[in-house]
Amino acid sequence: MGYLDQLRSRFRREHVSLDLDQIQALILRARPEPYVGLHAMLRVDEAAGGRDVIARIAQHVPSAQDWAQDRDAWVGVAISHAGLRALAVPEESLATFPLPFQQGMAARAEQLRDVGENAPETWEEVFGDDGCHVAVTIYAVGQPELRAAREQALATLDDAVGVTLLGVHEFGVDEEAANPFGYRDSIAQPTVAGSGVVPVPGQERAIAAGEFVLGEDSETGAPVAMPSPDILGRNGSFVVVRKYQSRVGAWNDFLRDSGSTVDEQDLLGAKMVGRWRSGAPLVLAPEADDPALGADPERNDDFGYADDAHGLACPYSAHSRRMNPRDGELTILTDVNLHRIIRRSSTFGPAWRRDLTAADDAAEDRGIFFIFISARAYDTIEFLQQEWINRGNFIDLGDERDPVVGVHEAPGNFTIPDEPVRRRVSGVSTFNRLRGGEYMFMPSLPALEWIGRAGWLEQHAPSTSTA
Ligand code: HEM
Repeated sequence: MGYLDQLRSRFRREHVSLDLDQIQALILRARPEPYVGLHAMLRVDEAAGGRDVIARIAQHVPSAQDWAQDRDAWVGVAISHAGLRALAVPEESLATFPLPFQQGMAARAEQLRDVGENAPETWEEVFGDDGCHVAVTIYAVGQPELRAAREQALATLDDAVGVTLLGVHEFGVDEEAANPFGYRDSIAQPTVAGSGVVPVPGQERAIAAGEFVLGEDSETGAPVAMPSPDILGRNGSFVVVRKYQSRVGAWNDFLRDSGSTVDEQDLLGAKMVGRWRSGAPLVLAPEADDPALGADPERNDDFGYADDAHGLACPYSAHSRRMNPRDGELTILTDVNLHRIIRRSSTFGPAWRRDLTAADDAAEDRGIFFIFISARAYDTIEFLQQEWINRGNFIDLGDERDPVVGVHEAPGNFTIPDEPVRRRVSGVSTFNRLRGGEYMFMPSLPALEWIGRAGWLEQHAPSTSTA
């Protein structure tokens, strides 16, 4: 059974309580493996032309319900606050969006700890004030399917007026789904209550739908604040987009400097990520990689950290353990289920090679469009960047930072618990440099249609009824 069929076999219509026919498939449905795809970035220069493009692209956006049928490519659309304004969505509605989203990611650099070489002043031009208003994403199982979806969805731009295509960024990976560092990626994902997908073994209870879908009850028991009017906010979600350039050569050099054999280097890399390259979690495979475990969706997420209380298998500072401490104890208590995210990242550039060195990083462009979806995405990313990525207090590690995505203005440390004494490896640098990002809103299908036809104008139109 192929990966996509495997995913679909976990779908049970009788478990559905959400309005699947209104929610964009990209929110609730995982990408295929292997996958190819693209992000097209658009700027709206003229409102009516922009709305026309939204209306036409919306026809090609499948719902989370359609996805269960035989689809081999799917399109998603997200819009920034500046984009909604450029589409002439009324100011009274724009003002109901959360402040960070209104301000945009560049303006939130301080809260996001986007400093030094990650600061907005250094970003690519497409991000920032007059940058990407609308992002169209396509995921497909292969190149022919991507071409067909692209022709359909983007054909509308050929004769569009008032919309500029700023760029198309292609991405894709093979069946190992390896990211730029050669690690299988996007394994651990929350199960969304009411979405109809049966959890895989080890996935804790399903997370309240309102953490991911606006209008539904969240983990606190009430919905997260929703933009108005209802037709615009309900069944939408927020998206964090952050483009990283991956310094894979510098990462390889760091491992080589700190480990004398290939096995030692691979173990150190796994300790930093929390999983081996195959995806096998350290907690289940502490000594050596286990590719069969890594590839098995029934087993590769079936673990917690309670039995590894001292971090001897998986260090507290490992990226995966920081990003989801699961049932492990934390020095600073927090409800981990309020910080869960649906990751839809995409990897671009040539595949990882062991012989790459820092000198290759400038010559070969590799990286990740780190994308995640959550009804409180703007809060979650700011919390993660401040507390769990660029600090170590919550795990008693002072100012030690995430070894994969932390920003290191000076070389940092990585602590590996061991007995009788822990090991501290120095020389961690910014292995993933931020090239830009934006907060986006992923509207429901009715909302896309409403934006496309300027539904707000109709509310104010005089009644034509003669009754
Ligand atoms: C940009 C470079 C990044 C790389 C190379 C990377 C790599 C990885 C890898 C290899 C895993 C383990 C496999 C998996 O469970 O999918 C992982 C897990 C994860 N990453 Fe990242 N990541 C990156 C950025 C980020 C950022 C910026 C965040 C959050 C703001 C993040 C959040 C997570 C989460 C939540 C998990 C799953 C943890 C779990 O549930 O066990 N990642 N990442």
